[in-house]
Amino acid sequence: MTDDIIAIDGPAGSGKSTVASALADRLGWNVLDTGAMYRAVTSEALFLGIDPDDADAVARVAHDADIRTRPRVSINGRDVHDEIRTDVVNVAVSVVAANPAVRAAMVQRQRAVAAEEPGGLVVEGRDITTVVFPRARVKIYLTASPYERARRRGDEGHESVARRDHADSSRETSPLRQADDAVALDTTGLSVDQVVEEIVRCLENTTSN
Ligand code: CDP
Repeated sequence: MTDDIIAIDGPAGSGKSTVASALADRLGWNVLDTGAMYRAVTSEALFLGIDPDDADAVARVAHDADIRTRPRVSINGRDVHDEIRTDVVNVAVSVVAANPAVRAAMVQRQRAVAAEEPGGLVVEGRDITTVVFPRARVKIYLTASPYERARRRGDEGHESVARRDHADSSRETSPLRQADDAVALDTTGLSVDQVVEEIVRCLENTTSN
């Protein structure tokens, strides 16, 4: 199990994915996009004709699936890299991600990925700092102004993003929230490099302590 984990949570459009992969490049670490895992399970359920509200059937998909997030996102050998960003998935993923059995299966896999990671790992999502890796070396809560987040999410549209954010923050199991000891970083008006440097500074502070 690697001790070198940087956990990043935040709402849609806060810059998590972009920052996480730039940060991983900068450090020579790997990155785990946990949102892609929930999206892949959602794609597969829809592909199999399963109703996202059928909690047991979706949980079985989550439990049994072979999910890869790198270099492209695939599930059970099917490439879903582009499909997971479509409107149908944007809508259905909130229901799938609120399913406690799905979450249990994903958390277990995410910890297994870290357990096999020889180097450092940047993990981004909604419950990484609070549930999956509460003892991560660095915990970051990324935010940005609502205007900025909507702008970054141009394709998905403001209403869909707002609906997902509301669902993510108000669900019963592992809602999106800032962990008490996470560093909050507002990325509005900052470049990717500036955010990356700020997180690297946080990492360096942990080493020198
Ligand atoms: O594209 P965006 O950054 O907005 O979202 P994402 O990271 O791809 O995650 C898509 C959806 O998966 C979120 O809206 C959450 O419902 C769910 N998710 C989650 O519940 N827990 C995570 N650790 C990651 C994503």
